[in-house]
Amino acid sequence: MAKAKTAYACTECGGTTSKWQGQCPNCGVWNTLVETIAATPASRFQALAGGANVVRALSSVDTSDNPRVPTGIEEFDRVLGGGLVPGGVILLGGDPGIGKSTLLLQAMASVGVLRRALYVTGEESADQIALRAQRLGLVNAAVELLAEVQLEAIVGAIRTQRPDVVVIDSIQTVYTEALESAPGSVAQVRECAAQLTRLAKQTGITILLVGHVTKEGAIAGPRVLEHIVDTVLYFEGDTHSSFRLVRAIKNRFGAANELGVFAMTERGLKGVANPSALFLSQHGKAVPGSCVLATLEGSRPLLVEVQALVDPVQGALARRVAVGLDPQRLALLLAVLHRHGGVETAGQDVFVNAVGGVRIGEPAADLAISMAIYSSFKNIALDSKSLVFGEIGLAGEIRPVQRGQERLREAAKLGFHRAVIPAANKPKQRIDGMEIVAVERINEALDHLRG
Ligand code: TYD
Ligand code: MG
Repeated sequence: MAKAKTAYACTECGGTTSKWQGQCPNCGVWNTLVETIAATPASRFQALAGGANVVRALSSVDTSDNPRVPTGIEEFDRVLGGGLVPGGVILLGGDPGIGKSTLLLQAMASVGVLRRALYVTGEESADQIALRAQRLGLVNAAVELLAEVQLEAIVGAIRTQRPDVVVIDSIQTVYTEALESAPGSVAQVRECAAQLTRLAKQTGITILLVGHVTKEGAIAGPRVLEHIVDTVLYFEGDTHSSFRLVRAIKNRFGAANELGVFAMTERGLKGVANPSALFLSQHGKAVPGSCVLATLEGSRPLLVEVQALVDPVQGALARRVAVGLDPQRLALLLAVLHRHGGVETAGQDVFVNAVGGVRIGEPAADLAISMAIYSSFKNIALDSKSLVFGEIGLAGEIRPVQRGQERLREAAKLGFHRAVIPAANKPKQRIDGMEIVAVERINEALDHLRG
């Protein structure tokens, strides 16, 4: 096959040069040039438009013949926004061994009942996939297998076989002859993903790409991959525990930040319908340093236990460690606690943790984190059937959070009977069995702990 003409593009500014250099001649940043195929702009855009490049009225575009294809795995469908979309490209990222191949094999087995599913494996041999299928009790699943890593061969097979859904496990193992760089390099990953995306758009085939995650937590290779595809899902969770979360980071076909919860069992991943109970550790009685947070994950509320440990400094420097929570936010909260709550944590190591390997990004966790810290510091326990949410401002005020009612109702369902929440979130109508402690300032929340 004739080599396509290659060029070098800067990952920072997008400028191109014809030969490799250490420094980008356009923006002056070092080590950002990567090999790409020098395609003429026309050929790229034509391919994307699939030939149908006529101007149409938005209202005349028919969407009714594009129904979603449910994967049959309820929690997976939830993160996808209802199922697979024809022509959609989904990137599933996550640490090695977290369960990407397992989930997709299960999904393909279920999709394969009514449609044609093709599983392209570059990572494992067909034997290994068959062994996994055996373990999952899916030996008779109607899934076609292709052990191949060369992009042109994969595209050829897809074009002749015409499956409805294709899994590429993983995009890092695929390479195109057109580029000289090694498989897994930025250039290869980007070009292969772009070509597969074009194929999906042209043919209406859904393509799921497995992507590896670097030590820093980004999908290995380029962030650009996230721009190319329609949906980006991340597998989260602690490989030491059995809980696995699949989170939608970006979704052109549904809500971002939607969350699917699974448990890894002997026979594959099982959806967890009522996940709130998972992230609460089962203390017999109330313990200091623990506080239950009602957080929102996508469309549903989730109760998560936030733990803190405050202990005199061991060593020269005070340590602030946040697991599953934002370390910057922790520093900010400690400053607010000091200034507006009179809580002096200099000279103390502070550790905070969200139980169950869940990652919480929303500021509604502020109040729970602060109360857990104070609770550990003063060794006073918060009633174990109390829940907390609220954002904290730099002036020490407690700000309302969105959808407070739903959070309260979820907690009431699970037997919680007291809630420390922002005054502005106080429900107008009573929630049965729930006592509301509405607070306006951080000090009032701490006073509640002091009793
Ligand atoms: P895998 O899907 O191979 O992970 P990835 O593709 O993300 O690298 O999952 C591998 C892990 O899952 C491995 O540690 C074994 C475990 N596992 C189970 O616990 N139960 C099962 O039924 C299967 C298939 C795997
Ligand atoms: Mg795998």
